[in-house]
Amino acid sequence: MKIAPSVLSLDYSRFNEQINELNASGAEWIHYDVMDGHFVPNLTFGPDILKSFCKVSPLFKDVHLMVTDPVFFADVFMKAGADQITFHYEAMSSLDEIRKLAAHIHASGKKAGISIKPKTDVSVLEPLLKDFDLFLVMSVEPGFGGQKFMPAALDKISWLRRHLDEISSSAEIEVDGGINADTGRQCREAGATVLVAGSYVFKNGIKTAVESLR
Ligand code: DX5
Ligand code: ZN
Repeated sequence: MKIAPSVLSLDYSRFNEQINELNASGAEWIHYDVMDGHFVPNLTFGPDILKSFCKVSPLFKDVHLMVTDPVFFADVFMKAGADQITFHYEAMSSLDEIRKLAAHIHASGKKAGISIKPKTDVSVLEPLLKDFDLFLVMSVEPGFGGQKFMPAALDKISWLRRHLDEISSSAEIEVDGGINADTGRQCREAGATVLVAGSYVFKNGIKTAVESLR
């Protein structure tokens, strides 16, 4: 299981202390939530902040684009140091456009992920199973940290686990929203391989929280 703390919930008044703790916590990834105030009703970080994270942390930068124009922003964040770009199925207009962006991300030497919101049926991903390194199941409405886990995400994770196993794919299944030790265990049992956690990690001791998610 990989753990991806979401720095949306990092305490920026204690940045140095928190980033050092995060680097030493055993977490594999930093989950970096980009919101444009349009695709979701909240606004977060631009590319310059990601560049700073790259300077102070060696962890893999897992960039989650919650934006209306992923085609434009994928390049912006790849240039700023993203290791992986995950964009939303709902922001795209066709399967062709989705595959084209995945191919562009791969051609840039980065990993590509696709995400679905809680109201989107997981079966929309069936034609795309071979195109991505990661499938991100949202277990809350994207936009804010600290929301309650929606158990309907578990069936989507199981569906992905079954379908990826059928084609012997080693793609990651990531889940994001309302993850704590209990909901994290349920996701692991359903077949998830990456847990994103924001408030749970940063409102408890970072290292203890990360270890409790494994
Ligand atoms: C929500 C973001 C999440 C958020 C999760 O839209 O995509 O990554 O940080 O926060 P928690 O873990 O507090 O639900
Ligand atoms: Zn996220």
